Amino acid sequence: MKKPLKIIVASLAGFVVLVAAAAGVVNRLADRKLHRIVQLPPLQVTFAPAEGQLQHGEYLFNSRGCMECHGAGGEGLVLIDDKDSGFFVRTPNITRGSTSPARAYSDTDWVRTVRHGVKPSGEPLWIMPSGDYSRMTDADVGAIAAYVRSLPPLETEGAKIGIPFPIKAAYVLGAIKDAAAEIDHTAPATESVPDELLARGKYIAQGCTGCHGEHYSGGKIPGAPPAWPAAANITAAPDSAMARYTSAEQFRTMFRTGKRPDGTTVSEVMPFKSLAYMSDAELDAMFAFLKTVAARPSGQR
Ligand code: HEC
Ligand code: HEC
Repeated sequence: MKKPLKIIVASLAGFVVLVAAAAGVVNRLADRKLHRIVQLPPLQVTFAPAEGQLQHGEYLFNSRGCMECHGAGGEGLVLIDDKDSGFFVRTPNITRGSTSPARAYSDTDWVRTVRHGVKPSGEPLWIMPSGDYSRMTDADVGAIAAYVRSLPPLETEGAKIGIPFPIKAAYVLGAIKDAAAEIDHTAPATESVPDELLARGKYIAQGCTGCHGEHYSGGKIPGAPPAWPAAANITAAPDSAMARYTSAEQFRTMFRTGKRPDGTTVSEVMPFKSLAYMSDAELDAMFAFLKTVAARPSGQR
């Protein structure tokens, strides 16, 4: 081999070794972050039984995305299987079956997982958008828990999560955070669902913030598979997607059909299977609230 070529080959080999070593380090660091113990203020919740709780729980389970991600029976399902990037997510069984991490959940465990994004072990959840649920009342979490506990126990496969290297690296560097790292764990729980229309709309629209951003200006969804489109700006900005919706009626129709007023289709990344369950009253409250959200340029989250 000629000398320059030798140098090139040697440095290429060195580069490959370096990349492999870096990948090993990223994997170890990501693993460490995923298995860290999240410090929470002392939590002790006992749900009060309430009239109509099971029905309310079923409504929330269906309309808030639990059903879309965990299956109608809580059995768990393959949520993401992106062959190009190697992104794979199978969600856990959350019934009382023996393969479910939630089989023996206490009331406090339900609050810790749903509202704080933290497992009973103290480790963070990674994919589940607990930030969307972080403002839920005890009564709403309690209703969901009562409904899930009422589902027949199933013995399906456990959760499986495969994260592509670039997303893992961004997670290690802190450019992408898990929900537990973003939630303000010391904020007091919402005491009751507000009666006033706009406040109620805001309470419900918390469930849109994981994708549309805490200020509703949308943009690339952090940690999402590369193929997903950016979330729309849904503030009151002139170029916001909300400008297309001049009546609550049109807004409801989009939620129920996945189609814009001009008949074109909104990306299925919007979780329409769940959103179609939302009641007229909830959609109207959310529509009224979104029309008051301070304008912001798109993509400023
Ligand atoms: C976008 C999909 C998604 C949505 C929406 C979602 N989950 Fe999850 N959930 C997951 C994934 C993925 C996991 C596995 C843990 C993780 O995120 O790393 C999980 C884990 C869980 C666990 C088990 C945690 C443990 O102890 O290991 C429970 C219980 C749970 N979810 C309940 C719910 C409930 C109740 C709702 C609705 C309020 C909900 N999930 C909404 C994706 C989702
Ligand atoms: C899992 C992520 C996700 C969640 C959760 C989500 N959205 Fe979206 N939404 C998107 C994406 C992505 C788009 C852009 C779709 C496109 O470009 O076709 C979008 C588009 C929209 C649009 C614009 C539709 C149009 O006319 O183009 C509105 C309005 C909207 N979402 C409202 C909401 C509201 C309100 C909620 C909460 C109840 C919500 N979304 C929850 C991801 C999400």
